[in-house]
Amino acid sequence: MLSGKTALITGGSRGIGRATAIEFASQGADVAIIYAGNETAAQETLDACREKGVRAMAYKCDVSDFAAAKETVAKVKADLGRIDVLVNSAGITRDKLIAMMGEEDFDSVLDVNLKGAFNMIKH
Ligand SMILES: NC(=O)c1ccc[n+]([C@@H]2O[C@H](COP(=O)([O-])OP(=O)(O)OC[C@H]3O[C@@H](n4cnc5c(N)ncnc54)[C@H](OP(=O)(O)O)[C@@H]3O)[C@@H](O)[C@H]2O)c1
Repeated sequence: MLSGKTALITGGSRGIGRATAIEFASQGADVAIIYAGNETAAQETLDACREKGVRAMAYKCDVSDFAAAKETVAKVKADLGRIDVLVNSAGITRDKLIAMMGEEDFDSVLDVNLKGAFNMIKH
């Protein structure tokens, strides 16, 4: 069991991140999720985690933004006291044939999926 531990899961509002958040909550860990903007989905994840009897908090943050990631990590520590586990699940896809894929698409994917993970690990 993970009671007394806190898991921070980026991309926790939907998909793999949501499933991971609920599993951590099932194991007794408090949960913090980061999401990009989907408030409804974030709230659904919080409700599902809280049903397991743990504390759960959601933070809107663009993980590709170094300063915003730093601020959010500090908020999580202030709210929940500690971070024991980090799961980097925030991600986007802009998959296309390379001839159709613009530079902005490529940069966006690297910014969120790669730099976002760096930012979170760093902070
Ligand atoms: N699903 C698969 O089969 C699969 C397989 C291999 C790899 N992956 C990779 O695993 C990751 C998660 O996949 P998924 O299927 O769970 O994705 P998903 O259902 O589309 O969920 C994406 C999550 O990332 C969040 N997010 C997106 N951009 C963000 C940003 N800039 N800052 C903070 N949060 C952001 C979204 O928040 P909002 O809800 O607020 O938009 C959402 O919580 C992706 O990188 C995906 O490419 C997925």
